[in-house]
Amino acid sequence: MSVAEQSADQPMVLADRVCKNFGTLQVLKGISLEVRRGEVLCLIGPSGSGKSTFLRCVNHLEIVNAGRLYVDGDLIGYRERGGKLHEMSPREAALQRRDIGMVFQHFNLFPHRTALENVIEAPTQVKKQSKDKAVARAKDLLDRVGLADKADTYPAQLSGGQQQRVAIARALAMDPKLMLFDEPTSALDPELVGEVLGVMRELAASGMTMLVVTHEMGFAREVADQLVFMDGGVVMEKGDPREMLADPQHERTKSFLSKLL
Ligand SMILES: Nc1ncnc2c1ncn2[C@@H]1O[C@H](COP(=O)(O)OP(=O)(O)OP(=O)(O)O)[C@@H](O)[C@H]1O
Ligand SMILES: [Mg+2]
Repeated sequence: MSVAEQSADQPMVLADRVCKNFGTLQVLKGISLEVRRGEVLCLIGPSGSGKSTFLRCVNHLEIVNAGRLYVDGDLIGYRERGGKLHEMSPREAALQRRDIGMVFQHFNLFPHRTALENVIEAPTQVKKQSKDKAVARAKDLLDRVGLADKADTYPAQLSGGQQQRVAIARALAMDPKLMLFDEPTSALDPELVGEVLGVMRELAASGMTMLVVTHEMGFAREVADQLVFMDGGVVMEKGDPREMLADPQHERTKSFLSKLL
């Protein structure tokens, strides 16, 4: 196998028995999963099961206590030297994080900046892109999320769904190789959920690799390649979303899904 083939074959995310504790609280108790290039994985589970913590570990906002986490073949958070692991410096960690886009439940836009200014912030400040180039790209991205006419609008004048679409455009402006979504629609009024899911669906169709915490089961059924049910810090069940939703194998999965529907 050539080097290029090997790297195409390598998963985008590989979690190998990932453990995370907060003090004496064991939150992740050995999470193993794989997201291949271009795949969408939807993660579901009860409140407190560790979904957000897992995403934060992938993005190196939390340091894992045991196990290994690789993104695009790179070990996250640590350097391996002479068989030993050394924690990365904050600078190295920030460099790793640049390639991973994250969209949260609460959009966290800069309130005193317009939609366009929000989108160009990271490319100009972190990547030192020229303003002209960043603005041109930001306009394309705002167009892609259906907000070409809102470039000069401040977040407070946008609906929740529009703000979330700006947040997606902002993450895409860094050209991420992986997008993480943490309940991106759960703070939205029901009639605004569809427009955000539509943008995510289009992103998935364009080949973006996505790890999505969501309880929008219609989205999971139609868009996801894998569905993972987490409970109490472990993966209880995973598989093809259509099969799993139609015929969950585990009692816990069954009872959780029955409460969602
Ligand atoms: N920084 C932290 N310090 C201490 N405990 C934490 C911290 N972050 C999360 N926890 C705890 O870890 C557990 C898992 O939290 P997490 O936010 O990952 O759950 P979740 O599955 O995303 O839940 P939800 O569906 O409510 O968002 C919870 O018990 C939470 O209180
Ligand atoms: Mg959460």
